[in-house]
Amino acid sequence: METSDPKNNPSSRRSFLKILGLTGITAFSASVLYPVFSFLRPPEQREVEVSMVTAGKVSDLKKVDFKIVRFGNEPVIVIPSNDKFIALSARCTHLDCTVQFVKEKNVIWCACHNGKYDLTGRNISGPPPRPLTKFKTIIKGDELMIAKTT
Ligand code: FES
Repeated sequence: METSDPKNNPSSRRSFLKILGLTGITAFSASVLYPVFSFLRPPEQREVEVSMVTAGKVSDLKKVDFKIVRFGNEPVIVIPSNDKFIALSARCTHLDCTVQFVKEKNVIWCACHNGKYDLTGRNISGPPPRPLTKFKTIIKGDELMIAKTT
């Protein structure tokens, strides 16, 4: 004789446990996979609009070979040269590696594929297809400011 009470129905109880188990597995998988995918997906970077940034104190910048500063999302290389400063985009025009200044050779060098630029930013050897973008330098008191050229 079959009972109509669902509490005593083993088939109904099995279905309930099966649904409960699948829900638990799904919830557990989501709680593990969501943080993993969130970590692996790079965050969206908005373009930051700036017109001028402070590179640092002139007295400090004269003591270093070069300094990389942020101009919005763009890295800028600042190189002391005599009593002036040179400011160029530090993003290599080949594949966006960050360049550095090699004082002994007086060149701006990209270590990724041995690209070289002169101090005006002109690409002189290696794979870089274009010169580095120039920035304007403005000295205000003991502060060096960097601005986009118009
Ligand atoms: Fe600079 Fe290739 S990324 S030379």
